[in-house]
Amino acid sequence: MMRDPGVVHEYLRVFSLPDQNGQTTLQPEQKTRCDLLRIGEEEYCRYINEFWTARQRQASRLHEISYRACFKPQLPRFFISLLTMPGDIVYDPFTGRGTTPIEAALLGRRVIANDINPLSRILTEPRLHLPAYDDIRARLYAIPDNPEAAGEIDLSMFYHPDTLRSLCSIRAYLLKQEKRGVTDETDAWIRMVATNRLSGHSPGFFSVYTLPPNQAVTPERQVIINRDRNQTPPYRDVRAIILKKSRSLLQGLEQKQRENLSRAKESSLFLTRDARHTPEIPDNTVSLTVTSPPFLDIVQYATDNWLRCWFNGLDAEEIGKGITTTRKLADWEAVMGDVFMELFRITRPGGYVAFEVGEVRNGSIRLDEHVIPLGIRAGFVCIAVIINQQNFTKTANIWGVNNMAVGTNTNRIVLFHKQSDGL
Ligand SMILES: C[S@@+](CC[C@H](N)C(=O)[O-])C[C@H]1O[C@@H](n2cnc3c(N)ncnc32)[C@H](O)[C@@H]1O
Repeated sequence: MMRDPGVVHEYLRVFSLPDQNGQTTLQPEQKTRCDLLRIGEEEYCRYINEFWTARQRQASRLHEISYRACFKPQLPRFFISLLTMPGDIVYDPFTGRGTTPIEAALLGRRVIANDINPLSRILTEPRLHLPAYDDIRARLYAIPDNPEAAGEIDLSMFYHPDTLRSLCSIRAYLLKQEKRGVTDETDAWIRMVATNRLSGHSPGFFSVYTLPPNQAVTPERQVIINRDRNQTPPYRDVRAIILKKSRSLLQGLEQKQRENLSRAKESSLFLTRDARHTPEIPDNTVSLTVTSPPFLDIVQYATDNWLRCWFNGLDAEEIGKGITTTRKLADWEAVMGDVFMELFRITRPGGYVAFEVGEVRNGSIRLDEHVIPLGIRAGFVCIAVIINQQNFTKTANIWGVNNMAVGTNTNRIVLFHKQSDGL
């Protein structure tokens, strides 16, 4: 059963839904503000409110894997609870760290996840199949430190020699398991957590102080950081750090959520493709897509990811070539236009697409307004533009030209619908 767009409008305006399973129960402090957005001859409803807030149920700690330009779990949760029922298929063509599929799985939905960057799958899939903490511990301590183990590059500016030895031993073990095709859920979990702890600015990471884990600097740059900060890499216990982070990720999961995750895992589909071409996904099957595409010219994934790629035996340069990094709006629109065609093919009649666009170039380009014609051209109906603005009452001039210049916590989502006769 899919929600009718009329009900969705009603909900966005007054937060009232007929009582049924899967409903979102927000108690917003302020009334939704609505206006009409004119594009050419057409007008679209635009809703603004604090649709998901800190007062909502806390997001699961299972999401706490850092990734460039990720969104908060509350964003997919809002659309998943509003627009789908347990068992429905939820998809993200630009999965990143997996916020959409993990939240969908926690809520008992089936999931399809795609991202051109293979790190996305490495960071997402293990969280659907949770190993027991004791198994992680036993596995970690069963991998001996090999005095011979070393990476093929000099990483001494990031790691203490003993830390590097442990790290390289674990890496060599994981790569060997992968090569033999025997990586199990415990190995995959360790690989995910280690990938996430490679570098950062606190003792919770393996490295000396450096940039956050999703923005690794070059070895040359790290040498300069070390000199400026007068630091040498301290010893860090790799296994203890992996265990501490594992405990934190697994903390607070309810039995029902664990069951939902493993059920989602059984039917899950993970793809490492360009989002424009996903032939493994059958026509008319996806109930809801919640996604946030690569934006214009902000993220250099290949350089950001080199350390994570090294650990996983991946070629960062090669991966970087597949990632959409467009500087010109027209090029971005051409890629996204094709993505919408593919989304239309796979969306089931009555299904939805929630397409989040960030604020680029200080708000001088409103990508949401550029996205609407792309979705319509593919066959969708545009239901609304939804702006989640935290503390919007404190923000002046919200509707004017400056409405994106303030309030960094703004999300702009274009909601599309495939009509039931949209085949
Ligand atoms: C803004 S991030 C998505 C973040 C995600 N919402 C999360 O919460 O982590 C965009 C993602 O798109 C991926 N990507 C870039 N170009 C792509 C393409 N042509 N096809 C599929 N994925 C692509 C990048 O690897 C990146 O992970």
